[in-house]
Amino acid sequence: MRLLYEGKSKRIYEAEGDLVFVEFKDDVTAFNGQKRAAPPGKGEITARISNLLFEYLKGKGIPTHYVRAGERGFYAKKVRILPVEVVVRNVATGSIVKRLGLEKGKKLSPPLVEYFYKNDDLGDPLVCEGHAIYFGWATEEELKRMKDLSLKATALLTDLFSRAGLRLIDIKYEFGYDSDRNLLLADEISPDTSRIWDDEGRSYDKDVFRKDLGDLVKAYGEVYRRLKGVLG
Ligand code: C5P
Repeated sequence: MRLLYEGKSKRIYEAEGDLVFVEFKDDVTAFNGQKRAAPPGKGEITARISNLLFEYLKGKGIPTHYVRAGERGFYAKKVRILPVEVVVRNVATGSIVKRLGLEKGKKLSPPLVEYFYKNDDLGDPLVCEGHAIYFGWATEEELKRMKDLSLKATALLTDLFSRAGLRLIDIKYEFGYDSDRNLLLADEISPDTSRIWDDEGRSYDKDVFRKDLGDLVKAYGEVYRRLKGVLG
């Protein structure tokens, strides 16, 4: 397959028709690429989790770019990604705690929605709706649709994780247009792009790598095992 794009943690290949194949690499990066590693098996377990979560959301009626699972990745509709990332938070931790001086672990109910400008050179800064509309990154209608889909997906995933004995703390979504101008949930859904805690507050996500909390592949393996236990 022809390689179309290589990012920090994934490769995108051209596949049949208007499909692409999204392959997960073992590479993991944090702090905008300043910290790096490539633990063996990381790509495979991240792909398995992302496939499971996309299948689940698709089954619940969320429009996504996901088409079917493949080896270490998945086939997806080719999309043009909008440069606005949507973060939904159930619990305060990470950047919002530093930015606003909140207490780590504070419940955010109903969930809080934030927008970030997708730009590596700037370190994906927080932006408001006004910025996105003014600079043409997304229209008011697109932001509303993205927010709506993000909240729906988060409610579904929060419930799923809770049935697996885990807490979905926060999660990042990206959206894109396919060739028929459908706005689809895109990119990946995994512990690389979300925070997942157990009842004791232990992390099972990329914070394990960011903060050197233990074996990342083992933590992701536990997420997969628990989700499989619920979804079969
Ligand atoms: O760092 P922050 O607290 O803003 O991250 C919120 C959520 O978004 C976390 O789950 C983090 O892993 C995810 N995120 C991401 N990609 C980014 C920034 C944050 O997946 N560029």
